[in-house]
Amino acid sequence: MVCLGNICRSPLAEGILKSKLNPDYFIVDSAGTAAYHIGELPDYRSIAIAKKNGIDISNQRARKFIANDFNEFDLIYAMDSENYKNICSLAKNESDLIKVKMILNEIEPTKDLSVPDPYYGGDRGFENVYEMLDKACSIIASSYL
Ligand code: 4NP
Repeated sequence: MVCLGNICRSPLAEGILKSKLNPDYFIVDSAGTAAYHIGELPDYRSIAIAKKNGIDISNQRARKFIANDFNEFDLIYAMDSENYKNICSLAKNESDLIKVKMILNEIEPTKDLSVPDPYYGGDRGFENVYEMLDKACSIIASSYL
């Protein structure tokens, strides 16, 4: 799960998808394409909306997406089109590139919609992001049942 800062959207996506999959079989992680927040906890508003929904994401720490992530993961979900481009620019070959997906295409295929960046908005923005990611992650998880 990849966004810009790895403190708002992708930590939520990581926590939500983890909550829907068996950890014995799936590794879910998140990262940011930018380095601003490396080592930081998720934004307090992401921690709060996750907690409200029974998910603890306070153990996460921000990290940067690196080219080696293509070797470690089968699927890479971008939160928005800017992240998508930046992730793709680190791909070494076609088999890396086909791993990269826009997460909201799980809900509305081929539309390439972006999860809005809630960083500068209010709490309602985080609720909206939570709802979108919960829906997308339910679809992802259900494809493995
Ligand atoms: P995220 O949100 O990409 O969902 O983690 C942001 C967090 C920080 C900044 C931008 C977006 N920032 O500019 O510091």
